Amino acid sequence: MELFRYAMSVYGQDQLLGANWDLIWWFGGAAAIYIVVDAACRPFLGKNKRKTLVNAPNDGATVRRHHLIDRLYHWAMAISVLTLIGTSFAPILDWKFEWVTAHWIAGVSLSLLVVYHIIRAAFWQDIWAMIVTPADFRVAFATARAALGRPDEAPLKPGKYVLLQKAYHWMIAALVLGLMVTGLTMWLKIDTPFWNRNPYILGDDMWGLVYTVHDFCAMSVLALTMIHVYFAIRPDKWWQNRSMFSGDIARKDYFAHHDVTRWAPDDV
Ligand code: HEM
Ligand code: HEM
Ligand code: HEM
Repeated sequence: MELFRYAMSVYGQDQLLGANWDLIWWFGGAAAIYIVVDAACRPFLGKNKRKTLVNAPNDGATVRRHHLIDRLYHWAMAISVLTLIGTSFAPILDWKFEWVTAHWIAGVSLSLLVVYHIIRAAFWQDIWAMIVTPADFRVAFATARAALGRPDEAPLKPGKYVLLQKAYHWMIAALVLGLMVTGLTMWLKIDTPFWNRNPYILGDDMWGLVYTVHDFCAMSVLALTMIHVYFAIRPDKWWQNRSMFSGDIARKDYFAHHDVTRWAPDDV
């Protein structure tokens, strides 16, 4: 399988243009296989639930998981990413339309949102909520043991996010930052209301590299987003995932599923 696509340069040599678009099926297919295998295995693993329940009363009380401003960020960012995926991959898959303007507007919006998020995360949110620590690996190991039918007597519980969520967050962060750096550079190469295109800021080889990085990051984001949406709509995680809409989880679920020493929201 060819990884890249080339054009013939004026000197008769191969000139790198970007990724081979047939790879979209490999990235999308790998995500689809992961989803199908996970969904097929869950009913068997689910039988051996971890002993997590603590006697917290089911009194309807709630705990704030995501503030309104963070939920607005998540949904605005998600709409931008889905627009970027739609506007760029539809033409590649042969649905032709004038996509570039919608794409760069969504790209610039995403970039502004992400800069805002990083500043808020650094100064107003708990950065440790997302840092990977050795305790996360211990929880992941205990969860895997329990799923295979060997539950521990004193089950380990995670802080606000489990290891997989943190891994997902940092992979998406790296890919989106890569897309921003390359995308904003590519923006200078097209006509906008602010400037006329200038393709000469980089040589042909550098442009080939910039497009290749943008293309591989884009296909990876497509695959990760498919998996993320699958986890987000799974019924067994609804106790947690509804918080991206309402902001809250039930207080009983907070005590049942989280280590209160590692995640202590203001309203507990
Ligand atoms: C270096 C860059 C980044 C840093 C330092 C960072 C940091 C964080 C932290 C600390 C949290 C946890 C906040 C909490 O729950 O208390 C968080 C959550 C989150 N991050 Fe990031 N992040 C970065 C980049 C990104 C990028 C590029 C995206 C998406 C494109 C993203 C999307 C999210 C989302 C959706 C949440 C959950 C909503 C929330 O509670 O804020 N992050 N981030
Ligand atoms: C989830 C995020 C993104 C995805 C999935 C994505 C996807 C793509 C894809 C597949 C292409 C076609 C590249 C090629 O022809 O080799 C492209 C081009 C482009 N993207 Fe993105 N992109 C994203 C983010 C961004 C961002 C943040 C910007 C910043 C403004 C941006 C600006 C551009 C520009 C200017 C082009 C070139 C259009 C042209 O050559 O005519 N993209 N993008
Ligand atoms: C229809 C699409 C989407 C749905 C239904 C969805 C749903 C959710 C939900 C329910 C959460 C909260 C999980 C929690 O409280 O721990 C979440 C978190 C998050 N979302 Fe999304 N999301 C979508 C699209 C996206 C997209 C496109 C991105 C970025 C590419 C993204 C990035 C994140 C990140 C980084 C977090 C924080 C880490 C985590 O909790 O897994 N989401 N999403």
